[in-house]
Amino acid sequence: MDVFRIEGPVRLSGEVSVKGAKNACLPIMAAAILGGGKSSLAPVPNLSDISVFSQLLEQLGCKVSRSPDGLLSVDSTVIDNQVGEYEIVRTMRASICILGPLLARCGRAEVSMPGGCAIGDRPINIHLRGLRELGAQIQLKNGYIIAEAPNGLVGKDIFLGGPFGSTVLGTANVLMAATLAKGRTTIESAACEPEIVNLADCLNTMGAKISGIGSPRLSIEGVKQLHPAEFQIIPDRIEAGTFMVAAAITQGELRLRHCRLDHLMAVVDRLRDIGVTVEPTTNGCVIAGNGPVKPADVTTQPYPGFPTDLQAQFMALLALAEGNSIIVEKIFPDRFMHVAELNRMAADLRKEGPAVVVAGVKKLIAAPVMASDLRASAALVLAGLAAEGTTTVNRVYHIDRGYEKIEQRLNPLGAKITRESV
Ligand code: EPZ
Repeated sequence: MDVFRIEGPVRLSGEVSVKGAKNACLPIMAAAILGGGKSSLAPVPNLSDISVFSQLLEQLGCKVSRSPDGLLSVDSTVIDNQVGEYEIVRTMRASICILGPLLARCGRAEVSMPGGCAIGDRPINIHLRGLRELGAQIQLKNGYIIAEAPNGLVGKDIFLGGPFGSTVLGTANVLMAATLAKGRTTIESAACEPEIVNLADCLNTMGAKISGIGSPRLSIEGVKQLHPAEFQIIPDRIEAGTFMVAAAITQGELRLRHCRLDHLMAVVDRLRDIGVTVEPTTNGCVIAGNGPVKPADVTTQPYPGFPTDLQAQFMALLALAEGNSIIVEKIFPDRFMHVAELNRMAADLRKEGPAVVVAGVKKLIAAPVMASDLRASAALVLAGLAAEGTTTVNRVYHIDRGYEKIEQRLNPLGAKITRESV
């Protein structure tokens, strides 16, 4: 198992390119099931989540290959197995997004119920409600979802909202299934995340008829079949936001390339509010920390609100603010595993229900800490960059799920991170 040893404090400066969005790649790889031939995606980051999803598609009968330059191909000519095995699904809950396309293409899908994870319970009731609305018979058996539609799916007006607002992968599943349903489907309270926009655009290049893309109301005219296509993946806004916080927390200056500021308006708003400079450039931006940040209130919401996937990273930054901040987590109320670990680094954080009171401190102190999930581990790395001393982050495999070779990209900017196997 790998650990990171992180020397701090450092000040980052230089230029970094943002990779393709992991959370766009995964549903778009699933969409390739609908193409019935060889589709390709680029740029695809070299991440363990992508490798796991590739294995899952190969288990279904697809042929998956990737070139060194980040192009990934999925040939779904043959689908001779409609079962998403527990062994794979339990390691990555995003596997659930094969359910919709498999059901639409094969009339049957059997996918293991995804487990919970460190950020809290991860129900899929809205996914199943939407697919039932399209006419699927769904039963749960021995921990597996068995979905059947032997006579195909039929379009319907569907409400996909839940107690926490829209669902990203729930929208992806129902959207992909609706592309081959008979007649028209409308999805009310659809997710508006840029990754869903990317998916919908890719489906349209495959011959789907989707309108309202980017809005909470999607309209889909079912078609008989889709064809393979080539997909352009959007930049990873969460990775970009993580680098923005890295510049701010180290009071450095970073130039981000291949980054869409229009996907990060809520984050840029909060950064500017706390005194961080954000200057747009032709294909990205320059971020400059100007000394200790001011406190702020941050509430996570569905897009275009502040993304829950940047909550932990922002908490590490506000832990060093000159005053008290309040962070409210409205998407995953239990997504606070990083609080105890940051407090081990002398942060002063107090959980109050779905909120955390962040009392700014003058400095963080290095300590051995434990990564618990992808974004919490990113927050601990950022804290280690600013903390005095050598921070050890354990269970680095969490961060490798969503950030490609993060230490090899931060060290040229001034970080001092070594990866050790223990
Ligand atoms: C996606 O997960 C992302 N994962 C998550 O990123 C991200 O945190 C999340 O969206 C929210 O933006 C991928 O895209 C692979 P949801 P998803 O369904 O789709 C509740 C990362 O770090 N809900 O939008 O699983 C749910 O419990 C990961 O890259 C139901 O109640 O999230 C949550 O409270 C972590 N019933 C809220 O909705 C359902 O059927 C939003 O979840 C589905 C969801």
